[in-house]
Amino acid sequence: MTQQPLSPPICDYEGSGYEADFWQGQGRDYEDRVERIALRRLLPVTGRRALEIGAGYGRLTSELDRYGHVVLLDYSRTMLARARARLGDDHYTYVAADIYHMPFQPGQFDIATMIRVIHHLADVPLALANIRQVLAPGAAFILEYANKRNLKAILRRAAGRQAWNPGSLEPVELIPLNFNFHPAYMLMVMRESGFDVRRRLAVSYFRLGALKRVIPGGALAAMDGAVQTWAPLYSPSVFSANEARPDWPGQQGPAGDIDQPLAFRCPVCGGDLEAAGPDELICLADTCGRRWVRRDGIYDFKEPL
Ligand SMILES: C[S@@+](CC[C@H](N)C(=O)[O-])C[C@H]1O[C@@H](n2cnc3c(N)ncnc32)[C@H](O)[C@@H]1O
Repeated sequence: MTQQPLSPPICDYEGSGYEADFWQGQGRDYEDRVERIALRRLLPVTGRRALEIGAGYGRLTSELDRYGHVVLLDYSRTMLARARARLGDDHYTYVAADIYHMPFQPGQFDIATMIRVIHHLADVPLALANIRQVLAPGAAFILEYANKRNLKAILRRAAGRQAWNPGSLEPVELIPLNFNFHPAYMLMVMRESGFDVRRRLAVSYFRLGALKRVIPGGALAAMDGAVQTWAPLYSPSVFSANEARPDWPGQQGPAGDIDQPLAFRCPVCGGDLEAAGPDELICLADTCGRRWVRRDGIYDFKEPL
């Protein structure tokens, strides 16, 4: 975990073993399957340019393959390098950047997803406003968040084994930079950030070691899929389908044209960027002039040259 200047603290996955230590052979087949079921339910059928925010090593990226182009954004260069090794370059653009300092011109995506990321964000309103900014009016944004009002937390609280109240609206920080959110808080903050919440799914209800040991992942995931749409939101994870409201007053300037090539902007000053070489961009703002590079197929907007 590192503290970046001019940014809220970031949960830094640089060099982390997230893929091997958390997913591969770690008994989370059920979680992976139910997240795919939820995504398939909520994602639009067609789209021109999708942004996967906090894409990690690209675990779920294949769910976005049906769209015209996919941009993977993550703060961790090593995660993106792993994603690129798995997925290649044909259909994808890899961008190392911070959600709090987006490197895109406004309004350039008609789809965005952010799964298993917001629980690491200390400044949710700022992150959501930045995301809204890069989406076209009417764009779909699928968000997953960890739900503080889950059954296990309610039972622990009732048994006197948990100090924090799962029913209160404010986020709870369970360990540093790991937050759980109340569905009503998320509803409020999404609306304030320029989104209409269209649909919510209760996901991962059966995330219990005892059940996972006796019921195969596929069968348990099918049970989850059968309850996601109607079960009340007391599950550990919630998927929310949201639409970027066209009349959002926070919009800075006109939305870009999704059919044009992806246009970056300087993540430090917001200035326009121009190509300064095959793999180099320069900021045109008078007082900036920062240079940004693409190294090993990954645009690096974490530090200028
Ligand atoms: C738990 S992983 C989830 C990865 C992927 N979405 C998945 O579900 O497999 C969280 C990801 O969020 C990224 N992340 C955390 N804070 C970020 C920030 N401020 N800007 C960009 N990415 C961030 C991390 O680098 C990490 O890859």
